[in-house]
Amino acid sequence: MTKNFANRISIIEAEALELLDKAHSETELEEWRIAVLGRRGQITTVLRGISDLDPDSRRTAGAAANQLKIRLQAAFEDSKGRINSDETVASTGTSDRIDVTLPGRKVSSGSLHPTTQIIREISNAFNTMGFQVLDGPEVELDAYNFQKLNIPAHHPARDMWNSLWIDRASESGEYPLLLRTHTSPMQIRVMEKNDPPIRVIVPGKAYRYEATDATHEWQFCQIEGLAIDRDITFADLKGTLEEFARIIFGAKRKARFRCDFFPFVEPGAEMSIDCFKCDGQGCRVCGNSGWIEIMGAGMVHPKVLEGVGYDPQLYSGFAFGMGAERIAMLRHGIDDIRHFYTNDIRFLEQFK
Ligand code: PHE
Repeated sequence: MTKNFANRISIIEAEALELLDKAHSETELEEWRIAVLGRRGQITTVLRGISDLDPDSRRTAGAAANQLKIRLQAAFEDSKGRINSDETVASTGTSDRIDVTLPGRKVSSGSLHPTTQIIREISNAFNTMGFQVLDGPEVELDAYNFQKLNIPAHHPARDMWNSLWIDRASESGEYPLLLRTHTSPMQIRVMEKNDPPIRVIVPGKAYRYEATDATHEWQFCQIEGLAIDRDITFADLKGTLEEFARIIFGAKRKARFRCDFFPFVEPGAEMSIDCFKCDGQGCRVCGNSGWIEIMGAGMVHPKVLEGVGYDPQLYSGFAFGMGAERIAMLRHGIDDIRHFYTNDIRFLEQFK
C-alpha cells in the first residue's frame, strides 16, 4: 500500500467520525450514512481508487479500505442507538428501561372449532363403547355412494340425496364420481377391507346440492357408525344409541325410535330426543312435537351384507348417521347452521 493511500484512509476516518459526533437526529444520521457509506459515498470512492494503484499494493489497500468500512459502520450503529434512546427520552420523558411493575399483556390463544369439538366428543363417547374412529374419501364413486348401498342407478330413492356430480354424465354410470352425499359409503369400504366383528365411527364432510337455510348447508359434517358381528339385534342398536345420547345430552333426555326408510337398512329408524328447550312440552324449537330428530339408523340390509361378501345368515349389524352441526346446535342452543361456516369470530369465541 502506498503511504499516500494509508494517509487518505486515516484522514477520511477522522473526518467522518468528527461529523458523526455532530449528528443529533435521525435525519442528520441518515445524511451522514448516505455521504459516507452510501452507494456514491466516500467509501465507494476510496474503493474505486484502488484500481489505479500498482498491482502489488492493491491487496493491502483493499483490505485497509474494507476495515475502514467496517469500523465506520460500527460507529454508525452506535450513534443510531444513542440517538434513538435520546429521542425516546425527549419525547416521552422516560428512558427505555423495562417497567417491571406493569401488568403482563394477555396472550390470546385460538381454540378448536365447535364442529371439531362436537366430533371429538361424539367419537370419544363411542370410543368408550369399543368403536374405532376412521375417515374416508370425500370424492366418492357412484358405486359406493349409492349402488353398493342398495340404491341402483335411476332408482327414485336417489332423490333423498341431491348430489353434486363431478361430471353430470355420472348418473348414467359413465363418469361415476361425485362429492359424497353422506358418510354411508364408508360402511362399504370398511366391510370390504375387514372381516367381522366391526365397530367403527366415521366422521367427515358430506355435500348436497341444496339451497342453504337455517337448518341446511350444502357442505356439512356427518358421523357414521357401523357395528357388525354375529347375533347383533335391534336391541343392541337401541342400547348403543341410548348410551350415546346419555353421554352427549345427559341422563335427563329421553330417546325415541320410529320407523323410517333408508334403502341400505331394514328395518330403518329415526332417533329423536325430547326437546331440551321445553322438556317435551312442545315449543317453537321442536315444532310443537316435543321431539327433535337427531339421526337415521337401522339394521344393515342383507343385500348390503351380501354385496361385500358377508353371509347374512351368519352376520348382522346396525348402522347410523347423524349431522355433527345438528348435534352441536342442540347441545348449545344454536339456531342457524350457517354460523358454523361464516367464521364470525364473535360466534367462535363462545366455544373456547
Ligand atoms: N346416510 C343417511 C343419510 O345421510 C343416514 C343413515 C346412516 C341412515 C346409516 C341409516 C343408517 O341420510
